[in-house]
Amino acid sequence: MILVTGGAGYIGGVTAELLREQGEEVVILDNLARGHRAAVPPEVPFYEGNIGNRELVRRITKEHSIEACIHFAALAYVGESVAEPARYFHNNVEQGIALLDALMNNGVRRIVFSSTCATYGEPQKVPVSEDHPQQPTNPYGWSKLFMERIMESYDLAYGLKFVALRYFNACGATKDLGEYHEPETHLIPNVLRAALGQIPALSVFGNNYPTPDGTAIRDYVHVSDLADAHIRALAYLRAGGQSDRINLGNGHGYSVMQVVETAREVTGQSIEIKIEPPRAGDPSRLVADAGKAHAVLGWQPAIPELAGILRSDWEWRKQHPSGFVSPE
Ligand SMILES: NC(=O)c1ccc[n+]([C@@H]2O[C@H](COP(=O)([O-])OP(=O)(O)OC[C@H]3O[C@@H](n4cnc5c(N)ncnc54)[C@H](O)[C@@H]3O)[C@@H](O)[C@H]2O)c1
Repeated sequence: MILVTGGAGYIGGVTAELLREQGEEVVILDNLARGHRAAVPPEVPFYEGNIGNRELVRRITKEHSIEACIHFAALAYVGESVAEPARYFHNNVEQGIALLDALMNNGVRRIVFSSTCATYGEPQKVPVSEDHPQQPTNPYGWSKLFMERIMESYDLAYGLKFVALRYFNACGATKDLGEYHEPETHLIPNVLRAALGQIPALSVFGNNYPTPDGTAIRDYVHVSDLADAHIRALAYLRAGGQSDRINLGNGHGYSVMQVVETAREVTGQSIEIKIEPPRAGDPSRLVADAGKAHAVLGWQPAIPELAGILRSDWEWRKQHPSGFVSPE
């Protein structure tokens, strides 16, 4: 049985869905701070609680013979982490340590961990490979880097085996599950909310970057491809693989204006934009070197092109215009 923390959230929900499609049994632990109860199918064992609740984690590992944990649960807004660092360090690090301890004390030593390209900070060279220096520019990025370092020490001392997957920008949807956050800070959900008329215009933060059209370039990776990589990382650990850190991205970048243009094509809507000042700490270009994911996990994105990513989210969002409804 696999424990999926944060499985009522976006990427955790899609990964739990794919695990079940592949015949795995999953248990979900989520405090619903940012997730949706309706995103968890009724037949999946669900515990509403904190990852930092050691007694609850002990009980789950015993009741369900947990063999491995895919650990998604975290607070994940960069801006919020700058305003409320204590909350981020308590939630992501302090509770994260409690989770690791409770898992290891109960014999669970395999962890696939949601890390992020935010652990690299301002890129010194692009594409960014795993050996790029890690110098986060915000408390969110630090909270994830601390967890990587803690797991490294736990590996040396206690034999914990982990794969830290450093995602670039997660996006897209499956038939039933998509990205719905309130407030929403990510570009693709917001461009499609503008297409649905739910917001009057899409805010474009900065159009004077040293990029061909002046807007920032990011690497977008479909949530189903992320889910697939987690399952591959689990198989890697089950086969006795050593702890590792692996980027998950498409390896090519798209500018904000390319996303807007493609969204206009996919939706047939005119999508208004509003140019706003650049956000502090937003690099001009952030693109993954994803070669290691291919080499170590045999991973290759199945939906690498932007139009396919946008189409999947658009189809889901039209069916779920005001967020989450229970999967019927
Ligand atoms: N979305 C991205 O582009 C992206 C990029 C890089 C890394 N990540 C990481 O991937 C993971 C999942 O991201 P997401 O976009 O699905 O976010 P999400 O907010 O949709 O999911 C996270 C889930 O964790 C739960 N949670 C948070 N703190 C908890 C706690 N202390 N105890 C129990 N549950 C808790 C929330 O309720 C939520 O359901 C996060 O760790 C995030 O940092 C996301």
